[in-house]
Amino acid sequence: MGPAEVRIAAFGGSLRAGSLNGVLLDHAVRIAEPLCEISRLEIRDLPLYNQDLDPTMGDGDTPAAVAAFRNAIDAADGVMIVSPEYSWSVPGPTKNAIDWVSRPAFDTPLTGKPVLLAGASPGPAGTGRAQLHLRQILHSLRALALVNDLQVPFAHSTITPDGGLDPQLELRIGELLRELVDDARAASAADLVGRYRVPPATA
Ligand SMILES: Cc1cc2nc3c(=O)[nH]c(=O)nc-3n(C[C@H](O)[C@H](O)[C@H](O)COP(=O)(O)O)c2cc1C
Repeated sequence: MGPAEVRIAAFGGSLRAGSLNGVLLDHAVRIAEPLCEISRLEIRDLPLYNQDLDPTMGDGDTPAAVAAFRNAIDAADGVMIVSPEYSWSVPGPTKNAIDWVSRPAFDTPLTGKPVLLAGASPGPAGTGRAQLHLRQILHSLRALALVNDLQVPFAHSTITPDGGLDPQLELRIGELLRELVDDARAASAADLVGRYRVPPATA
């Protein structure tokens, strides 16, 4: 598998126009483009999670946005999540998006896949507390959160919609994305998706 053949899906957790995390995601996608096949996913059209509409569980009509999101995560070798922090934790939209790809249990579109966590906040913690909770959530799906992650504190002064990125931050994002791509390639080669899935029940 060459660099361009590694497929990374990336999504942001803020629905706000002018989102700092949205701008950070824009930069990450730009930096990732030479390294892999990157697709940026939109979560704003996902409805609130409803088990009746979950294609793996319910018998209602699955919303098109849900099917598209699940398919895109399913097709990816690795994932990047760029999420804000709300109330020291994971914002509803980010959690809602993950809930839509959380079934069947232990056999989800994220199972066995490397996930890079990033986030920006105007405060000093740079979303680190939300990322700890994200790690727990991802662990429940047997997704593989990368040990290294990115927190951008005081982001209102470092991330501007039309501005460039601080060179150190640009370099760090590149390093982390290379790590994600390498891990995604290795996970795919080792079929970690298959290994982390619950073995089928025997009669
Ligand atoms: C409901 C709410 C809760 C927030 N809680 C936190 C928090 O716990 N930690 C933090 O660093 N910033 C917090 N903030 C500030 C956000 O980090 C800030 O609004 C940030 O710009 C949101 O990300 P975005 O620009 O990508 O939309 C909160 C903001 C809102 C609206």
